[in-house]
Amino acid sequence: MNMKNRIVALSDKYHQQVIGYRRHLHAYPELSFEEFDTASYIAKILRDRGLQPIEGLGGGTGITVDIGRGERTIALRADIDALPIQEEGSHSYISTQQGVMHACGHDVHTASLLGVVLILNEISDDLPCKIRCIFQPGEERLPGGASKMIADGVLENPDVELIVGQHVHPDLVSGTVGVKPNAFMASCDELYITIKGKGGHAALPQHVIDPILVSAQVIVGLQTIVSRHGNPNIPSVLSIGKIFSVGGATNIIPDEVKLEGTFRTFDEEWREEVYTLMRQKINGICQAHGATADINIVRGYPALINDADVTASVKKAMLEYLGEDNVVDLPSRMTAEDFSYYSQVVPACFYRLGTSAVDGSKRSAVHTPTFDIDESALKTSIGLMSWIAYQLGMD
Ligand code: NI
Repeated sequence: MNMKNRIVALSDKYHQQVIGYRRHLHAYPELSFEEFDTASYIAKILRDRGLQPIEGLGGGTGITVDIGRGERTIALRADIDALPIQEEGSHSYISTQQGVMHACGHDVHTASLLGVVLILNEISDDLPCKIRCIFQPGEERLPGGASKMIADGVLENPDVELIVGQHVHPDLVSGTVGVKPNAFMASCDELYITIKGKGGHAALPQHVIDPILVSAQVIVGLQTIVSRHGNPNIPSVLSIGKIFSVGGATNIIPDEVKLEGTFRTFDEEWREEVYTLMRQKINGICQAHGATADINIVRGYPALINDADVTASVKKAMLEYLGEDNVVDLPSRMTAEDFSYYSQVVPACFYRLGTSAVDGSKRSAVHTPTFDIDESALKTSIGLMSWIAYQLGMD
């Protein structure tokens, strides 16, 4: 039997088992960097197969395991953490943890990578290289488990040549996948701005420094960063999502106004420039009115850039495994993902796995209380990722 048919047969063999893994993980979700039971569960499965996982990485709950041998090493990554969301639904594997849910499909990514381990372990004598499977904690929370795993050396000893990861995508039906080379997901920074004026009676504006009026100008000023300074070829979004004053009433001007927002883009140089422009605009506008500002920019994940060559190889493997009709070219997205940290260190490809049902159900978006998948997607997931790893090793 050729390798593709072997992998298809193994994906069939392990499909039910992987559904079991996924349902267990789904029923016992844990928040970012608290995935202790999840990590024990993963490590036990790996050890029971005679493998030697390295545990305690990335803040304590990260795991890696190497399969096969050879001079080259390629990595596969799954994230393992859940979200602070109360699940809604009535299925048998509903979350048993109050207010915690695998609403971003990381249970699917983890169960899939376990399934890939099972498959690769069976064909390990025929693997063209070493394959490192990375089970990473804390994707949903800054500073992101990926950066901690990298700091703990998961891309070294031996040096990892390239890395591949996947994410569930309810916009695509089970059996299909989506991919895009180059800039795929945005950087994401949080903005916290406090405009400080001088409050007083709203009927006596000559005695106050009105932070509400200054805030209005600051918001407009910030919007000119993207519209007047940004290269129109670099997608960027600057949104203020929250504004509130500390005190204030119909007849009271408050002392302070707070603004909160997000800045997202695909270019690291431009991202740095925006930090400078933001400070200039905010401070300049405040100064013109006699107000001051506290500016806190919390840096989130960098932009996720899919390496063009690796992505071309991944797409070729997808087309071979799933056929032309089941591989979709995706647009870039303004959402963020800490897989981007790996993409800054080694050539990387992050793709999306279709998870909705062909009958139109299981379409709830990620990060919602009704998110769920059509579990036939797990068979595609474990077979395809194994095939991609094998083919990248052959390249
Ligand atoms: Ni996610």
